[in-house]
Amino acid sequence: MIRILDKNFEISITKEKIQESVKALAEKLNKDYNGKCPIVVCILNGAFVFAADLVRELTFQPEIQFAKFSSYDGMQSTGEVTEILGVNENVKGRDVIIVEDIVDTGITLKSILPKFHERGAASVKIACLLQKPEKLQVDLTVDYCAMQIPNDFIVGYGLDYDGYGRNYPDIYVFRP
Ligand code: IMP
Ligand code: MG
Repeated sequence: MIRILDKNFEISITKEKIQESVKALAEKLNKDYNGKCPIVVCILNGAFVFAADLVRELTFQPEIQFAKFSSYDGMQSTGEVTEILGVNENVKGRDVIIVEDIVDTGITLKSILPKFHERGAASVKIACLLQKPEKLQVDLTVDYCAMQIPNDFIVGYGLDYDGYGRNYPDIYVFRP
């Protein structure tokens, strides 16, 4: 058990299991992007740990960029997505891989994808660490997903509760 602010969390996915599934996801990307130079866009803040581990397993040559959007307030998705930091790089004609920590309602990614298509990306794919399939609210294809989880609130490995908990190497689940 760990305590973050006013809430208790218990261990859910160990760092060993996480590393194993990140490597398996990287292998799929290595097959599909062999010989290509896609732009890998790490979605801040949550994906920073996952992206750091993932890109170090890649055998093709990615160009790494960062973007930041916001939709979460505490433990609730607000449904509104605001762009805080955009990708400056020219994406025209480029393959883009969006690296996200978790797909929950899917609203964030659904609103991010057109931004890359509008700017002429050759292809745009999603690679996420986690997905909560039960909570998906929009029509979204998640191309690469390391692990699927039930509809629980989690922290650790980059994911936060009100800004805290991102530093844990394991993933913890909220226990009321
Ligand atoms: P969506 O737009 O509802 O898919 O929200 C995706 C974003 O919400 C993710 O990038 C996370 O930052 C955040 N999020 C969703 N579920 C969780 C969770 O269980 N813990 C922490 N952050 C989460
Ligand atoms: Mg996020």
